[in-house]
Amino acid sequence: MSMNVVVLLYLVASVCFIQALKGLSHPTTSIRGNVFGMVGMAIAIVTTVGLITTLADRMALDEVSGLGWVALGLVAGGGVGAIMAKRVEMTKMPELVAFMHSMVGLAAVCIAIAVVVEPWAFDLAPKGGAIPFGNKIELFLGSAVGAITFSGSVIAFGKLSGKYKFRLFQGAPVVFRGQHLLNLALGLLVIALGVVFAATGQWAAFALLTALSFVLGVLIIIPIGGADMPVVVSMLNSYSGWAAAGIGFSLNNPMLIIAGSLVGSSGAILSYIMCKAMNRSFINVILGGFGGGGGAEAGAAQVQRTVRSGSAEDAAFILSNAESVIIVPGYGLAVARAQHAVKELADKLTAKGISVRYAIHPVAGRMPGHMNVLLAEAEVPYDQVFEMEDINPEFGQTDVAIILGANDVVNPAALQKGSPIYGMPILEAYKARTVIVNKRSMAAGYAGLDNELFYMDKTMMVFGDAKKVVEEMVKAIE
Ligand code: TAP
Repeated sequence: MSMNVVVLLYLVASVCFIQALKGLSHPTTSIRGNVFGMVGMAIAIVTTVGLITTLADRMALDEVSGLGWVALGLVAGGGVGAIMAKRVEMTKMPELVAFMHSMVGLAAVCIAIAVVVEPWAFDLAPKGGAIPFGNKIELFLGSAVGAITFSGSVIAFGKLSGKYKFRLFQGAPVVFRGQHLLNLALGLLVIALGVVFAATGQWAAFALLTALSFVLGVLIIIPIGGADMPVVVSMLNSYSGWAAAGIGFSLNNPMLIIAGSLVGSSGAILSYIMCKAMNRSFINVILGGFGGGGGAEAGAAQVQRTVRSGSAEDAAFILSNAESVIIVPGYGLAVARAQHAVKELADKLTAKGISVRYAIHPVAGRMPGHMNVLLAEAEVPYDQVFEMEDINPEFGQTDVAIILGANDVVNPAALQKGSPIYGMPILEAYKARTVIVNKRSMAAGYAGLDNELFYMDKTMMVFGDAKKVVEEMVKAIE
């Protein structure tokens, strides 16, 4: 395959990737976006195989065994990826995404090591010759960012899954004295080692900077509190893209540079959007601790306080007598897979002439767009679904706000100075005339905080699994 054809096909693949990102920005076009992504990736892989054969001929390398390794990687990695993606539950998607980011980071480190060990096999230097200065800078950046992405994503995976008993992996931020100074010192040391490696090509400097970057990744993510995890996931997404782009420069591969830059910049934009949604600055997120405290105090407070609770039938009665209802879906709705039951409930209420709207918080659930995806799956009409800024002014004029498996995103603690989540914008469900909250217990949400909304006089708690409770409401309305 001639280099002109390679470049042309890489360009076509890049256009497909840009179209994929454009399509994925809205639920109505997301399937088209996915198709573009798959076509782009198929073109990129086939072209890379063509490129390998061309380069192998030019460099007199054994192309059959080279392609054999590529095929093995494709089958093994693609197979594991396909099985994991097929098996994963919607609520476990963020962990899967964190796992994928960690793999991209690790791949970048492995490639960088391979290039440093055998630069001639990558056409970067004659056998026994030194790697050019510019390539050494790229390798240093690719390996450092890749290592930070890998270990940071492993910690993020642990925090998101919350399964592990090991304290570092749990949702609570790990904060200690002098933490930021230590991170700064380590960061500067990594840069200094990078400069030494670029100037001298010393293998030891490269190995040490990579090892320290692994440690730095852990230290950067452990202080970050539960409520900031959405920003962390998109930030690591961005890092994984930049790591790939850095390695793309070392390998002189335009496809890797373009795809890596697209991932890097779209992840950075998503981080910015998330920061805005949480009313946080990026620096605040990195400094950590947000939304991590209060869990213990909340637990103590719950023991002494009482709430008003009712049955699904009580809730159905209140809903049937309302003129306007706003449904607030949250993570618990996804856990219960109650989206179809909720759609049925909304249809029943609409048939009675009641206005029904859905209020979506940008970080409800466990991944960006989580609630939009769930509602789209149940074929909820898009004109009933409202973003936070558009629906918040409506709560004050609404008869009933029904909160299904949501907690942090409606927690008025965000309005109180001194609260760990102070400043985070919330859905103002507490302003509705009546509030119905469905969850299984009085347990805290992801940020580990008690929720004042549950104790308000106008609030009725309906305890139970969201799917079961909503199905009972539908039956009662019938
Ligand atoms: P949460 O604050 O996590 O609250 C969910 C509530 O659902 C829990 O209090 C839980 O209470 C209840 N629940 C769980 N299973 C249920 C079931 N089967 N039926 C009924 N209720 C159930 O959720 P949220 O309000 O959606 O807020 C999202 C949180 O996750 C935010 O803190 C956000 O920062 C964080 N986060 C978001 C993302 C993204 S990008 N969206 C990523 C990572 C983290 P019970 O146990 O008592 O039932």
